[in-house]
Amino acid sequence: MKRFLKQLAVLVAVVLFSVILIDAARPISLVSGGPSSASSDRSAAALYRSYCATCHGSDGRAKTIKGKLKHTRDITDAQWQDNVSDERVFNSISNGRGKMPGFGKKLSETEIDSLVNYVRRLRK
Ligand code: HEC
Repeated sequence: MKRFLKQLAVLVAVVLFSVILIDAARPISLVSGGPSSASSDRSAAALYRSYCATCHGSDGRAKTIKGKLKHTRDITDAQWQDNVSDERVFNSISNGRGKMPGFGKKLSETEIDSLVNYVRRLRK
């Protein structure tokens, strides 16, 4: 009987612990998850922030120090946006262009696609 109670106590502790864990994880998954369409937007924004913003700036205008040093293109420029195809933007991100490194090894095709869309939305 004593042994049974001990096992029960362990079981209760484990259940309680997992409830706490699940509860603790919920706000995190709310931040990174959410509705599926919004979550792909968020990941493109996160990718842009970690891989592109050092040169292109968070607004895409390349007003950063590194952006100026590398003669980074202002990717918000409407005239440039109108003259460039999605394929070329994709290839530039994947293979690099001029002083810009390629990201084909670091990012998946889906991620680069989402960055192409993200770049399109920076158009001013
Ligand atoms: C080391 C600085 C640097 C980083 C990091 C960088 N870029 Fe660039 N980017 C440049 C430079 C410089 C150019 C201009 C290249 C040229 O036309 O000679 C450029 C050009 C571009 C262009 C225009 C390409 C074209 O075909 O005209 C796009 C789009 C672009 N970058 C997107 C991105 C994205 C998306 C990322 C992140 C995945 C990124 N860049 C990361 C420096 C950078």
